Amino acid sequence: MQSRRDFPMKSIVVVGAQWGDEGKGKVVDYLAASFDYIARCAGGHNAGHTVIFGNDRFVLQLIPCGILRPGKHAVIGSGVVVDPAALVAELDTLAKSGIDITGRLHLSNRAHLIFPYHRQMEKAAEAARGEAKIGTTSRGIGPTYEDKMARHGIRVGDLLNAGRFREKLERVISDKDAVCRATYGVPLDTEGMAEQYLALGERIRPLIADSSELINDALDAGKSVLFEGAQGTMLDIDFGTYPYVTSSNAIAGGACTGLGVGPTRINGVAGITKAYTTRVGSGPFPTEMPDLEAKELRDRGKEYGAVTGRPRRCGWLDLAELRYAVRINGITTLVVQTINITNGITLVVGTASVPGLSIVTPATIGPWTVNKAFSANSETPDRFRPILPTSLAEMFTLRYR
Ligand code: IMP
Repeated sequence: MQSRRDFPMKSIVVVGAQWGDEGKGKVVDYLAASFDYIARCAGGHNAGHTVIFGNDRFVLQLIPCGILRPGKHAVIGSGVVVDPAALVAELDTLAKSGIDITGRLHLSNRAHLIFPYHRQMEKAAEAARGEAKIGTTSRGIGPTYEDKMARHGIRVGDLLNAGRFREKLERVISDKDAVCRATYGVPLDTEGMAEQYLALGERIRPLIADSSELINDALDAGKSVLFEGAQGTMLDIDFGTYPYVTSSNAIAGGACTGLGVGPTRINGVAGITKAYTTRVGSGPFPTEMPDLEAKELRDRGKEYGAVTGRPRRCGWLDLAELRYAVRINGITTLVVQTINITNGITLVVGTASVPGLSIVTPATIGPWTVNKAFSANSETPDRFRPILPTSLAEMFTLRYR
């Protein structure tokens, strides 16, 4: 494994180079030791990673895992959509484990709030799509971003003023109720919602900040920032396999828009990939394995959703997809995870030809370069080529030159 010295930069983005679940949490947790701030820029509690810290096991969905390390600051940016009940549940878990977050956890006042009606409307919309459903995580993520773009979302900062919050919520609820009845034939269930949200608002009040000011001030003061992306490149709303995507910018550019930081302030982008590919939910997956092989890999890699428990679809490594991810994100370092899982399985790639991309492996293997051109969508039978021996260290890096 490379040492942390290989990431000497002040501000780097960690981004998923595939369809999410590449093990970003593990990398962020590892790198967090060398950074002052760990900041999350997109998505919501549709993401989730499990971190073992000391003797405890944490599933963190909203709070960056850097919070587990004493003295580190964790930031939830304006590009994140926040279900305050989910956030408070995470706060309770941290408190139970004796982790003091005072003055270290910061939540953007501009982040949009997820309400129960978002989940209700998402459920109805997915049911209405039938076979063409996206297979969302049912957390209300899409409808919350819809409201943000339609300019009638309600933000974290609105919780600070009870009167204004009630007024906004009433207006939105009456619009939503009409839409829900007309489109899906069901009324909205909004009983007690304002009071519940205002109570949750009191719990999170001390965390609320201007995340853009916070991060830019930190960088000005010479502090280092690790930007933690959620999901992965191919789930990005603009550059993923649309419409089978999530509703936010999961690519590296999302760090700028999701935290209020200029692109000139970011020094590098670490793309995270598995040694094979997985995806959850519906949508194109060019290197998907037949059932039997997928099952073996799924069982070995425990490839079940951290949030929903759904079995992940499994496939071979897709280098054309990775090349695309390198371009879209401006990836400077690729970290390959889960090599250990493939022990005894012939690891094959779906595609090839990434000019100049070479894999830096442990000394016993030596460098290896991909040199066969192929398109991600091609059905040519020779698309899967065995490429690697099967017992490497758990994690090593690819370098893009
Ligand atoms: P949504 O983000 O819940 O709207 O789901 C949209 C698509 O993104 C679905 O295919 C989900 O399975 C997928 N998705 C969302 N979050 C994650 C994640 O953290 N890992 C993998 N897939 C995800």
